Amino acid sequence: MLVKQTCSRCHSPNVVVTQTFNEKTARKLYQKMTGESPDSERGKKVVEYLYTVLAEKAD
Ligand code: HEC
Repeated sequence: MLVKQTCSRCHSPNVVVTQTFNEKTARKLYQKMTGESPDSERGKKVVEYLYTVLAEKAD
């Protein structure tokens, strides 16, 4: 999965999936973590995953 691939390079995926995000924090975090624009092809997908799939868990 794309997010796992992108985000597990430096830390365990648990660091990511135990957090919840909204669109704004997801974009910021993506840029901070990868140094890439969240508007890139991959960035958009990862950010969308973060604030949709991971946000739902918070309910
Ligand atoms: C280049 C290496 C690297 C990549 C790639 C990376 N991270 Fe991180 N991440 C770190 C480091 C180092 C820390 C711990 C230091 C810190 O908190 O800044 C961290 C900490 C975190 C934290 C918890 C700390 C905080 O800032 O709240 C979260 C959540 C997180 N990463 C999410 C992600 C997500 C989501 C991705 C994929 C978009 C990602 N990371 C990709 C290096 C990386």
